[in-house]
Amino acid sequence: MPVVAVIGAQWGDEGKGRMVDMLSEKADFVVRFSGGDNAGHRVVNPHGEFRLRLTPSGIFYPRVVSVIGNGVVVNPAVLNQEVDGLNARGIDTSRLRISDRAHLIMPYHIVLEGLEEKALGSKAIGTTLKGIGPAFADKTARYGIRVGDLLDKAVFRARLVTVLEMKNKIIAGVYSQPPLSLDEIYRQYCAYADRWAPFICDTTALLAGAIEKDQNILLEGAQGVLLDPDFGTYPFGTSSSPTAAGACQGAGIAPARLSKVVGVFKAYQTRVGAGPMPTELNDEIAATLRERGKEYGTVSGRPRSCGWFDAVAARLSVRVNGFTSVAVTRLDILDTLPQLKICTGYKLAGKTVNDFPASVAVLAKCRPVYEEMPGWQKPTGDIRLFKDLPVNARKYVKRLEELIGCPASHISVGQRREQTIVRKPIF
Ligand code: IMP
Repeated sequence: MPVVAVIGAQWGDEGKGRMVDMLSEKADFVVRFSGGDNAGHRVVNPHGEFRLRLTPSGIFYPRVVSVIGNGVVVNPAVLNQEVDGLNARGIDTSRLRISDRAHLIMPYHIVLEGLEEKALGSKAIGTTLKGIGPAFADKTARYGIRVGDLLDKAVFRARLVTVLEMKNKIIAGVYSQPPLSLDEIYRQYCAYADRWAPFICDTTALLAGAIEKDQNILLEGAQGVLLDPDFGTYPFGTSSSPTAAGACQGAGIAPARLSKVVGVFKAYQTRVGAGPMPTELNDEIAATLRERGKEYGTVSGRPRSCGWFDAVAARLSVRVNGFTSVAVTRLDILDTLPQLKICTGYKLAGKTVNDFPASVAVLAKCRPVYEEMPGWQKPTGDIRLFKDLPVNARKYVKRLEELIGCPASHISVGQRREQTIVRKPIF
């Protein structure tokens, strides 16, 4: 049963796209299962450098079927742009499939999110403003419009009439903004329907057939566990579950079919958007991590908060996902640092905290307890075997493994596919 989920184990931007791009070599199907175009999966491969927002990172391999699963919210305008961009660079996208159950991001989602974030002022979540939260809220509230609705224009129009009337009442009545035009949205989405109809299908049936044939399926996470609506730094998080359980739900695959769950951890910590990050640094080490790691939001371009690896947060991630192994990415970014720190616990009002708190108010008061380790101050980008890493780099990885209680099957030492130390293959 080779169904493998690749999960972002921190606050997103851990290098999932890069890992999936590499692992896709042996995959038959690669499935996005959550989020939407808030994701920005940066992939560097022989075709060049890409920033994928909706398209699964398996798209570069001719044998791979790339699936946008039911758990994703799809902005068809972004999909058009992304697929056109890939085609212009010679990438064949004919094997893309889109779940008929996935929800659509509509123009009013984006308008309303902008208005809501503005209204929150200094309390804003710092979202990517792509309409993700409002689209998932509508899905749960049962006001959503699904990709499959595009296949019958009368059904789509009737649904749009009902929902838009309600949304325009909020846009005009609450925010005093001009209402959106039904005809304009209808025309625009009919054009998307014409383009995407051949790609829309019941992807759960497609994947069930693949499981039956024992084909390799990779479930590609977006965002990270610390942005999960249940386990993350609520409300400073995203609106769908980037977890292993979310992978099953968002791909339509039964949990018992999952054979491996790989958690992707950066060798240090970053986050973008509002909300506390206990190990955040505001010194020259943060500047070094940001510049060496190019730590700027892929979608928004915002500088990311940077700091030391947080094993308290990591343990929560391991606990709720049951990782069978982890991938430690960007070890090379630490190559120049003389001294490293790992956060092993928090201090709160004189007491030690070992479990990541549910409340952001509590988390904001937690102070990290650090363990120090000497750096290795040698380049690691050309190393392909664990035993060839500098001794202090090996010690650092081993200490992370001990602290989180999970073995590292992969270690990345650069952005290119081949810059990966594979200790245990996935397929
Ligand atoms: P939203 O997902 O656009 O609603 O944004 C909610 C929060 O999740 C914000 O803090 C975003 O910065 C963060 N976020 C969303 N997608 C990503 C991602 O792909 N990487 C990192 N952070 C993300």
